[in-house]
Amino acid sequence: MSCGHKTAPSGKRIILTKNILIVGGTSGVGLELARHYTSDGHNVCITGRKIPTLHGVAYQELAIGQDPARLATDIDRVLERFENVNTLVYAAGFLQRGHIDALSDDDLGAMVNVGLLAPMMLIQRLKARSVNPLKIMLVTSSSQYTPRELEPAYCATKSAMGMLGASLVRDQGLGKVLVVAPSGIRTPFWKDSEENTETMLDPSWVSDKIVELSSGSFKYKFAKILRDPARVEVVECLNNDLARI
Ligand SMILES: NC(=O)c1ccc[n+]([C@@H]2O[C@H](COP(=O)([O-])OP(=O)(O)OC[C@H]3O[C@@H](n4cnc5c(N)ncnc54)[C@H](OP(=O)(O)O)[C@@H]3O)[C@@H](O)[C@H]2O)c1
Repeated sequence: MSCGHKTAPSGKRIILTKNILIVGGTSGVGLELARHYTSDGHNVCITGRKIPTLHGVAYQELAIGQDPARLATDIDRVLERFENVNTLVYAAGFLQRGHIDALSDDDLGAMVNVGLLAPMMLIQRLKARSVNPLKIMLVTSSSQYTPRELEPAYCATKSAMGMLGASLVRDQGLGKVLVVAPSGIRTPFWKDSEENTETMLDPSWVSDKIVELSSGSFKYKFAKILRDPARVEVVECLNNDLARI
């Protein structure tokens, strides 16, 4: 259950190299996590649509659209090229605002696929291939627990992803599951919006908190990362017997 390192009898920190797949790792929080894990000596593969500038990581294009058959084929390709995944970090997500009748079928399909179908397909395939129990880190949002008039599909999929994580924890064939729900972060997520991001959370700080939250011994943890002031609130943490820690 350790998270990438253990301590030798001499007290020296030993890195256990892991293969970490970060879906949505080309930007923002996912990119910061990739930076962290790479500098810690892990093998990192990031996915997204834009070729990243970060050196020392593998990149696989994974453009998630509204077509589920295409998504399945693309995910298979990514997993064939980056094998033996120990940890899945799911950080892909995009801003989508509008009342439900302003969203097209394609808008709804893309949100459901990015927010729910892709992580489910990935975990389903990775569990079947894993030698050791797969560790899962899911990045949701405050929209997981805050209904928002103009984000019906975004809120619904983030909420569903949280429940996906909480349910997968009950599967003894899977490793530990972390669900993190951050509030506003200053990233390209907001690039096409008018939102003032000045007081939002720093993505590097959020990444550090996610790394901290993921370490140690637990089977399930759900935490909110909040702002004004910036802080972490662990809502639930369970051990292997699903008892509260
Ligand atoms: N920023 C915030 O205020 C905030 C707040 C709460 C939760 N979150 C969540 O935090 C996570 C990280 O967001 P961020 O702030 O780091 O945003 P970001 O900088 O925009 O990064 C989002 C990542 O998701 C990928 N992605 C988005 N749509 C995709 C699609 N259709 N197909 C494939 N990849 C796609 C992007 O890839 P490309 O750029 O290569 O296309 C990028 O790597 C997301 O799940 C987001 O919902 C963000």
